[in-house]
Amino acid sequence: MIINQYIRDFENLGLGMFVHFGLYSILGRGEWVRSLENIPAEEYESLTDRFDPKEGWAEELAENAKNAGCGYITLTARHHDGFSLYDTCGLTDFDAPHALCGRDIVKEFVDACNKRGLKPFFYHTLLDWHEQTYRTDFKAYLKYLRKSIGVLCKNYGKIGGIWFDGMWDRPGEDWEEDALYATIREFQPEAMIINNTGLDARGALGHIELDSVTFERGNPKPINLESSPKYIASEMCEVMNDCWGIGFNDLNYKSPAMLIEEMVLCRRTRANFLMNTGPRPDGSLRTVDRGIFELIGRWMEKFGDIFRYAVPTSQAAVLEKEKDFILEKDGKFYLFCFGLPTVADPNVSGRVWADYDVRIKLKEPTTGRIAVTAIDTGESLPYDLEDGILTVHGTPFKFGSNLVVRVIEITIGGK
Ligand code: GLC
Repeated sequence: MIINQYIRDFENLGLGMFVHFGLYSILGRGEWVRSLENIPAEEYESLTDRFDPKEGWAEELAENAKNAGCGYITLTARHHDGFSLYDTCGLTDFDAPHALCGRDIVKEFVDACNKRGLKPFFYHTLLDWHEQTYRTDFKAYLKYLRKSIGVLCKNYGKIGGIWFDGMWDRPGEDWEEDALYATIREFQPEAMIINNTGLDARGALGHIELDSVTFERGNPKPINLESSPKYIASEMCEVMNDCWGIGFNDLNYKSPAMLIEEMVLCRRTRANFLMNTGPRPDGSLRTVDRGIFELIGRWMEKFGDIFRYAVPTSQAAVLEKEKDFILEKDGKFYLFCFGLPTVADPNVSGRVWADYDVRIKLKEPTTGRIAVTAIDTGESLPYDLEDGILTVHGTPFKFGSNLVVRVIEITIGGK
């Protein structure tokens, strides 16, 4: 099986920021607003007269991503409404340089990413509500699509990858994938090529050029690579509330604790976590979105290196627990512990400590020295070893801290 280094590098990024930003952001009713509300084309397209992200929007965005511990950002260079945030160089007038702002928004984004060592990725729609040929002359449309991708691959330096979405709109159609992906490989041989399989076919493998499968809003599962000539990564994208583009009245936010759990659980199968935000019309992040990224950043500050680089192992397995799991890095094991409570005086925390034991089956018998350490506090944790089962006795979080998931380092036999 071929293992491409750029795919390994992608896995090591671990966490990405997904950004849904476009004309729909002005209306604030999600990125599907044009289609769901049957807004007449002309009316929707006149939103270009109001599209004017503030100067520095990309810097702010990238700064938030960096502080959250992200390694990449995936921006909607063009979403289903057909509006391009990049200069299409004459392919269409329906792009940012022809809108009120008169600027190349993708260029600003790429510069802000590069400045901070973040890899820029482009989300690109396959279906198109704007382009006539999508309905009237599909072959001509595909040429337009490939030329668009060519522009993105040629004009912005080295990119992290392209993330396609929308093939499910015409499932029986020949999308000429060979030619589409060849356009990318020609100019960006090491770009990740991803094609979202949506909610119905999470984790499904596709064309041989694809480098990662997707799990949209779903629990990543191990993928079966038996018939695949090359190694393929996994990525799960998640939305904070119900829509990807900003919904001014979409208050249905998931809790930061839940999102941190989901993010960490991705690593059980080494999947990346792509956390979405829909910026305001001026490109700034909503306070709540910024806050969630800030909390994710707190977790990543403590455990980011383990999150990024530790890998699944066959040398140790957690028994009985639903979520807790174990990874390996540089000969050490890392136990991810879910659901440890905060315990203090019962009058303030309301909790009484009940033992939290994690039983781990070790593949190799060991008689060597064992050290079990909570990474966040540095405290040594008690353990027992019996019949090849290592039992780690967890301790609660102290009042004033609860990291949702704690990572515990286990060193065995003087490794
Ligand atoms: C769905 C939606 C789209 C969104 C995407 C994110 O495919 O159609 O609006 O961009 O999910 O994964």
